[in-house]
Amino acid sequence: TRPLSVAIAGLGTVGGGVLMMLRDNADIIAARAGRPIAVTAVSARDRNKDRGVPTAGLRWYDDPVALAADPAVDVVVELIGGSEGVALALAEATFAAGKALVTANKALLAVHGAALAASAEERGVALAFEAAVAGGIPVIKALREGLAGNHVSAVAGILNGTCNYILTQMRERGREFAEVLADAQKLGYAEADPSFDIDGIDAAHKLAILAALAFGRPVAFDQVHVEGIRRISAVDIAFANELGYRIKLLGIARQTEAGIEARVHPCMVPQTVPIARVDGVFNAVVAEGDFVGRVMLQGRGAGAGPTASAIVADLIDIARNRFTPVWGASASELSTAPSVPMSSH
Ligand code: HSE
Repeated sequence: TRPLSVAIAGLGTVGGGVLMMLRDNADIIAARAGRPIAVTAVSARDRNKDRGVPTAGLRWYDDPVALAADPAVDVVVELIGGSEGVALALAEATFAAGKALVTANKALLAVHGAALAASAEERGVALAFEAAVAGGIPVIKALREGLAGNHVSAVAGILNGTCNYILTQMRERGREFAEVLADAQKLGYAEADPSFDIDGIDAAHKLAILAALAFGRPVAFDQVHVEGIRRISAVDIAFANELGYRIKLLGIARQTEAGIEARVHPCMVPQTVPIARVDGVFNAVVAEGDFVGRVMLQGRGAGAGPTASAIVADLIDIARNRFTPVWGASASELSTAPSVPMSSH
């Protein structure tokens, strides 16, 4: 059978992880996808950087948007980031070419998710984004497929690995904020602009996506109340600890009588609650469904391996032509749904 031909736009930490996983696990991936999955084209600023995987034989493009028009490419994986500009242009060009898009770009989806989903649905192509929320935890599949029969009343969690890593290191080792952040950057956890992590914006992007899926309605990202961890000091953490609490940056979205409420801020969580013990780069997502009750998933929320794991799962689904509706409800239904007011706090 013909391999699924993949283009990757952006070959940083995560892109390198995808190349590595497709190489190292090629056998099981081909078996589960029903055919081999091969990266054939890439776009990245630096062609000569050592990525730990051979890149010879790939077609290189300077302009990522041009990947979409490559006739030998079936699927585009977008790892550029940013809600506008090149990433958005590439998404539109990919759908216009009738091809599937796999993206790890939470900022793009938090702002343009409903419109992009509608555009993908119109053309009958997949928009897959397991990697955009909570790294390696299959939370999109869990919400969209596993809990599909439930009314979901709330979804919450630790959605930023960098912040959780910083808060954990500050507590366990008494380390300084800035020093731990530099570590997170070196480990490939942090965003290109780390203020997106520490000011809660990245978590808010992910929460907007989760809420749209959980509640089947578009959730306006700019109406999510956001507060980050910049002002948390070692003393706050020590006092919380003494009182039996952990400080966690949580994203919380729930259905209320007034509409959907969505917020991201540091919380004091009793140490006895399971989510309080999710430490380091780990993320956790809790969902409440009317029949299933409370479900909690946890795993690594950032980094090359976990994010690649989610991207490869999406590629396997696409190779198999196994793709369920793109956004919360069907996209056409969404575009006519009234936008939901959110209370702020
Ligand atoms: N900067 C993000 C985090 C990467 O730390 O969680 C994964 O989206």
